[in-house]
Amino acid sequence: MTLCPDSTLSLVSPSMNTHQFYDGKPWKLGILASGSGSNFEAVAQAIADKQLNAQIQVLIYNNPTAKVATKAANRGIDAVLLNHREYNNRQAFDRKIVQTLQAYDVDLVVLAGWMRVVTSVFIAAFPNRILNIHPSLLPSFKGLHAVEQALQAGVKITGCTVHLVCLEVDSGLILMQAAVPILPDDTAETLHARIQVQEHRILPQAIALATQASLTTV
Ligand code: GRF
Repeated sequence: MTLCPDSTLSLVSPSMNTHQFYDGKPWKLGILASGSGSNFEAVAQAIADKQLNAQIQVLIYNNPTAKVATKAANRGIDAVLLNHREYNNRQAFDRKIVQTLQAYDVDLVVLAGWMRVVTSVFIAAFPNRILNIHPSLLPSFKGLHAVEQALQAGVKITGCTVHLVCLEVDSGLILMQAAVPILPDDTAETLHARIQVQEHRILPQAIALATQASLTTV
């Protein structure tokens, strides 16, 4: 028997490209990211490739050295550094985020590797209009180190999830998931790399779904 490590052998549900392409006015996105920004890049590329009818109004990032800022600059997208360490509490930080998103006239917010817990201040300003991508098949392995949690649990399949954000961490309505098999010699790094391949496929699709579904108009 040979083990097939082909990372494309992933189940995605709902299946890809089943939504109708929305060709009205582009949705205005605000993206929040803390790290390398590969998901930010995937969304920007899907827009450039006309697979997603949206425009990124602004990137908000919270770490001065985050590589995502360079990715935004390379694409001519405004990037605003809001450093949570400069705010007295989570609410004050979220108030500043909301002000910034509103100043950029954002319709839909995407947390793409945003490593901060959000408060009711943020959720109330964008009800049912905040999406998050998480590197596990929720509701399994919520919170930090989801890839390591899956390895430690010994599950044979994990994956990634795009969901609506609610107050409870990693718990809102699930929009789209991709499954990723765990291989016998996987490390957190190798597994995360294969999960990210799937993240980059489903995040633009899930944004498209969200912009068309009535759930964002609730
Ligand atoms: C992704 O794995 C995402 O699921 C998690 O943070 C990571 C961000 O990666 N929430 P990147 O910065 O988009 O490369």
